[in-house]
Amino acid sequence: MATVPDIESVKKEITSYSLDSEENIESFRLKYLSRKGIITEMLAGIGKAAPEERARLGQELNALKKMADARFKEAKKRLEGGAASQKSAADDPTLPPAPTPVGSSHPLSQTLEEIKTIFYRLGFTIADGPELEDDFHNFTALNFPPEHPARDMQDTFFIRKDENNPENDLVLRTHTSPVQIRLMKEQKPPVRAIMPGRVYRNESITAKSYCLFHQVEGLYVDKNVNLADLKHTLITFSELLFGKNMKYRIRPSFFPFTEPSLEMDIWWQTGNRPGQWMEILGAGMVHPNVLKAVDVDPETWTGFAFGMGVERITMSRYEIDDIRLLYDNDLRFLNQFP
Ligand code: PHE
Repeated sequence: MATVPDIESVKKEITSYSLDSEENIESFRLKYLSRKGIITEMLAGIGKAAPEERARLGQELNALKKMADARFKEAKKRLEGGAASQKSAADDPTLPPAPTPVGSSHPLSQTLEEIKTIFYRLGFTIADGPELEDDFHNFTALNFPPEHPARDMQDTFFIRKDENNPENDLVLRTHTSPVQIRLMKEQKPPVRAIMPGRVYRNESITAKSYCLFHQVEGLYVDKNVNLADLKHTLITFSELLFGKNMKYRIRPSFFPFTEPSLEMDIWWQTGNRPGQWMEILGAGMVHPNVLKAVDVDPETWTGFAFGMGVERITMSRYEIDDIRLLYDNDLRFLNQFP
């Protein structure tokens, strides 16, 4: 009597069969899948089984065969794939290695570098100051009287508040102007410097405003510095950054630390977009009270100051319409600025 093939145990053998070498794979094929293999024999034996068993046996054996076939093909592919990649690496050992991707500087850094280079050519040095400022440097010395509504111009992040003595308050600096004060406390005029840096404002975050951004402050204090010098400096700078044909306008404005104060717009038009005036900086003649706060005699010395936003200039130059892109560090964005 024909032995009933034990499908379950063959299935276990097949699943645990080690297929890690060419020899193993070949003996697997011979043992299970060849014309004399176990499964073929089992299939041939169906005829000897009881008639009511045949259909079920047929199904089970076919499933078994499929499974063995799949394992065999998969093992073969794995082996060939490995061999192929080993082979290609060994093919030509003199090939140079694949290039390593290198980064580039951030678009904000690129703009800042250009701004710095221009002012360097105009004879300005570079000064620096802390981002965590006290009330005195950020406001009082810059002629913001206590409780004066002018302080509302800037939404301040207060880090420490002292109700009894507001001069003890600590803030994240809302502009780079406090560096003017620090610089003039250290260095008596003549002073000619720019002060780039990060500033903070407690504003709601939108496509146009972010809680932090960068400014470049400029300060020039000497004998006989006047408004014409300021105008000349600003126009020369803008022509070097935006091109000789740039169109500008200068409007009166207000800042507590300059008198008179002004703002400069340039006409901005790119691609098919309609052109528009874009404010690029605030400026003015240093207020006598600011000079007095750092013991500089306003009868002898005069000066001008200006401050510009690096984000705004970068966004218009590269047609970036959401400021948050500059802070996401998404490589798909950054890779566009090689
Ligand atoms: N500090 C001003 C601001 O943040 C800009 C400014 C700087 C204006 C220097 C005049 C002079 O808005």
